[in-house]
This record gives sequence, C-alpha cells and structure tokens, in this order.
Amino acid sequence: MTPATEGAPPAMPPPTTERPLRAMIAAVSPEGVIGRDGKIPWHYPADLKRFKKLTTGAAVVMGRLTWESMNGRPLPGRRNLVLTSGPPVVGAETFRDVPSVLAAEPGPLWFIGGSRVYAEAMPFCDLIDLTYVPDSVPVDGAATFPPIDPAVWDGGALLVHEDDPRLGRREWRRRR
Ligand SMILES: NC(=O)c1ccc[n+]([C@@H]2O[C@H](COP(=O)([O-])OP(=O)(O)OC[C@H]3O[C@@H](n4cnc5c(N)ncnc54)[C@H](OP(=O)(O)O)[C@@H]3O)[C@@H](O)[C@H]2O)c1
Repeated sequence: MTPATEGAPPAMPPPTTERPLRAMIAAVSPEGVIGRDGKIPWHYPADLKRFKKLTTGAAVVMGRLTWESMNGRPLPGRRNLVLTSGPPVVGAETFRDVPSVLAAEPGPLWFIGGSRVYAEAMPFCDLIDLTYVPDSVPVDGAATFPPIDPAVWDGGALLVHEDDPRLGRREWRRRR
C-alpha cells in the first residue's frame, strides 16, 4: 500500500456497462423442429437437467402454447413470463410483446420457446444455446426454430453434450 492510499476507503468497483443476459435456449431436430402436437417429440433427461441448471434463478419467457404444454405449472425457481395477446394466464405473469418483457426484467432472462418467441426475441439476444437431438421429425405442421443468420451469429464449435453423448450442442454468439 502506498502512503497516498493508506487509510483510504476501499476503491469502488469500476462502473460496468455489461448488459444482463438475454439468451434463448432450445433443442432442435436435424430438420429444425422444436415441437409437434403441443409437445416436445423426444425425451432426453440429461438435457432437461442442463436446461434447469442454466435457467434456475433467472426469468424464463415463453409463448402461450409452450405455457399450456406445461399444464399451468410454472417452472420452479424462475420468474415465469408468458407472451399472449389473450387474457392473462393463471400461475405466471403475462405480457403482450417482447419489448414489454425486456422492460419488466432487468436481470438475466432466457427465452424458452416456441417459434414466434424465438423469432421475435432473436434481435434482442446475445446468445443462442442449442442442443441438437438426433431424432428425425416431420416438419409439416411442426413448430420450428427460426433461421440463424451467420452474418449476425457466430456458431461456436459443435460440442458433444456433456451429459449425453447422443446429443450435440452449440452456443451461437452475436457478432454485431
Ligand atoms: N424443443 C424445444 O426446445 C422447445 C421449447 C419450447 C417449446 N417447444 C415446443 O414448441 C411448441 C410450442 O411452440 P409454438 O411455436 O407452437 O407456440 P408458442 O410460441 O409457445 O406459443 C404461441 C403463442 O404465444 C403467443 N405469442 C408468441 N409470441 C408472442 C409475441 N411476441 N407477442 C405476443 N404473443 C406472443 C401467442 O399467443 P396468443 O395466441 O394467445 O396471442 C401465440 O399464439 C410445443 O410443441 C412445445 O412443446 C419446444
């Protein structure tokens, strides 16, 4: 410690300009399908466990149909936000559009589906966390993940899922 700082109060941490986490997370089939008939057409417990680990303590944002697929039960340990143009849902907070959600939640926030939510939230996010499942699912009538523009998004390495070697994983980060 130099004489000049001796006895001085501890320095304040430098101001941070870091944005809160705005991210989306999904599991997709080789065809880009995320859901069919109101359900996720596969079951990989290790990926659900990872989803829980990443999102617990944050807010999760979902469309009305995804909310309904959870039978009205909010995901525990997370602020549950539901997008709908209809009446408020019981058991979660309801919002009309993505900008209202962003204004209401200053902390970390994960968009968890489905298709329209991903498409409308994508311009506001810095991270897309995708799990690639091997199950082939017909695209016709299914919910799909929107296209990812490689000019905007940098796809990191394709990784083997830490907890299930049948699955792949890639984190896409915003270039600009
Ligand atoms: N594989 C995965 O990772 C994953 C993740 C999540 C869900 N899923 C699956 O995906 C399927 C559901 O997805 P989906 O695309 O069909 O439906 P969804 O996005 O969950 O719900 C669509 C509804 O949400 C509301 N909504 C969505 N975006 C909105 C916005 N920006 N502003 C206002 N309201 C908005 C509208 O509700 P109103 O009609 O009430 O206005 C819309 O009809 C299910 O099969 C589910 O299991 C899969």
